[in-house]
Amino acid sequence: QLKVYQHMEENIIPVSFEELELEAKKNLEEKAYYYVAASAGSPTDARRNTFAFEKYEIVPRMLRDTSERDLSVELFGSRIPFPLLCAPIGVQSIIHPEGELASIRAASEMGIPFISSTAATSPLEKTMEAAETDNHWFQLYWSKDREIAASMVKRAEAAGYKAIVVTLDTTMLGWREKDIENTYLPFLQGEGIGNYLHDPVFRSRLEKPPEEDMKEAIKLWAGIFGDPSLTWEDLEFLKSQTTLPIVLKGILHPDDAKQALQHGMDGIIVSNHGGRQVGSVVPAIDVLPEIAEAVDGKVPVLMDSGIRRGSDMVKALALGASAVLVGRPYMYGLALAGEDGVKQVLRNLLADFDLTMGLSGRSSIQELRSKALKRV
Ligand code: FNR
Repeated sequence: QLKVYQHMEENIIPVSFEELELEAKKNLEEKAYYYVAASAGSPTDARRNTFAFEKYEIVPRMLRDTSERDLSVELFGSRIPFPLLCAPIGVQSIIHPEGELASIRAASEMGIPFISSTAATSPLEKTMEAAETDNHWFQLYWSKDREIAASMVKRAEAAGYKAIVVTLDTTMLGWREKDIENTYLPFLQGEGIGNYLHDPVFRSRLEKPPEEDMKEAIKLWAGIFGDPSLTWEDLEFLKSQTTLPIVLKGILHPDDAKQALQHGMDGIIVSNHGGRQVGSVVPAIDVLPEIAEAVDGKVPVLMDSGIRRGSDMVKALALGASAVLVGRPYMYGLALAGEDGVKQVLRNLLADFDLTMGLSGRSSIQELRSKALKRV
């Protein structure tokens, strides 16, 4: 109880996601706001991920001594305090001048792993240096030039990242109506390619260093960003480049989850990229149960797309997720109050989760596995 009141005094930004989004909108340039908030497909598609959680209700249990709650989980041999990670989000400089550095400082202060994006403004090494802990992961956009992809992975390993997340759903950018109307793609203005500009192989492909000719660098980026020709067989190449666990992000079909296992992958993230890639895409929470069943505990199954509250976390974990990722909420915290804003968003989400667990009669994630939800 005390915890809740402490939160009330500390809050510097709105607590509810809906208010947070409205406030962030006021603080951001309109194009940047829509780049974060909108999705592929129609404006209502943007809400599908969150609505999908309403199909499930939590069924609390009573008199089970929940005074001590252990919400930690183990992922790839290391224990994290909560089943929560910060989703990889590129180009955070359009949200706040300190971008990824503010976010990783906030996440790491709470022991939360931060997944650093290939498309970050800050080079992955600099981001890691800003962290207080070393349990962070690197997210790879596999570029058409596979030597660049390999170089990114090697840099991530050398910088101390603990896992490689390969995002499969963004071999091309999705049809995002708002961004097209706004003629807005931050990368074409040189935002969000900072991590590429720092890459020795990327630089070696340029005739002039980007400090002298940024246009050439942007053109190269646009030419190599994604590779729609990738197939399952290409994962062998990636495996040969690193000893880190490889986690596939963007899995939405149980057969793809099985393929991931067959190809020796170490984990998967059930995700539809926050609805930003395919219009009318199936919500990740809707396919999570069948994917968890297909994987059958062989590797961790993480989930993102639509996590907004503690109850959403409870539902995802009860439906088979080992942990969840959160995206837009921490972006809005960043927009409103930089590092402190991110911290507040994460703290509120976790306090809500912790209370929801305790009041539902559950003291650990394992206890969520049995009849924690009712489907309506
Ligand atoms: C993303 N996401 C993303 N994913 C990824 O693998 N690499 C990236 O660089 C980005 N960039 C990115 C930018 C912005 C502005 C958003 C909103 C999202 C997707 C992200 O990792 C995650 O899948 C979703 O954000 C999860 O959905 P919610 O929590 O935002 O609903």
